[in-house]
Amino acid sequence: MTVELVVVPTAEEAAREAAQRLAQAAFAGSAIALAGGSTPRRAYELAAQIERDWSRASIWWGDERCVPPDDPRSNYLLVQEALLAGVDRPREVHRIPGELDPTAAADAYDRELDGAELDLVLLGLGPDGHTASLFPNAPTLDERFRRAVETEARLEPFVPRVTMTIPALASAADVLFLVTGAEKADAAGRAFAGAPDPATPASLVRSAEGKTAAVLDSAAAERI
Ligand code: 6PG
Repeated sequence: MTVELVVVPTAEEAAREAAQRLAQAAFAGSAIALAGGSTPRRAYELAAQIERDWSRASIWWGDERCVPPDDPRSNYLLVQEALLAGVDRPREVHRIPGELDPTAAADAYDRELDGAELDLVLLGLGPDGHTASLFPNAPTLDERFRRAVETEARLEPFVPRVTMTIPALASAADVLFLVTGAEKADAAGRAFAGAPDPATPASLVRSAEGKTAAVLDSAAAERI
């Protein structure tokens, strides 16, 4: 399962490359699953500048921390602040109800995802090789039927999470990783140049029938 590598010199250029792809998908009315964490914030800010009309898009989250939507740790809040506040609101915003208990939140999101067709999934990469909230050697990596499950975090913030499963992420026509920084170089080498390995969950996430790309800055691509 090949990955198209797009390596650019700086994190800002990586964010802009991802932003252009997000903006194009939004304008086309795509179903887009967004990533959390800190890396994509700049890409969301740029995407809002590139394309204001997100009205035809439907947006999802690849994962969410089980916290209320106004909690600083919320991936919904990240997207609201960096992207949604600056664009015409998407026709569908499928927020993961992080304020519920993890089981109820995962069940609700799993039901909501039933029948959904994802066009583009944006993913980050942790230094340990996790993506979304699919952590190394976790039992959630073996889930083949549900589209969303609850999981315990293995890194800050240590709150329960809800994550899309590998089959859900792989169902997207386009899987796009955005990875920057030298601290990701080892994980990126394992994720994009190594064999599929549950110790590096990102190495297991590829579009089943479409395309997978990874946009990286030079520092993150050092070991590929
Ligand atoms: C989250 C993300 C997570 C993130 C990686 C990288 O909820 O935190 O979904 O998978 O993409 O941990 O995070 P950074 O971009 O902050 O390095």
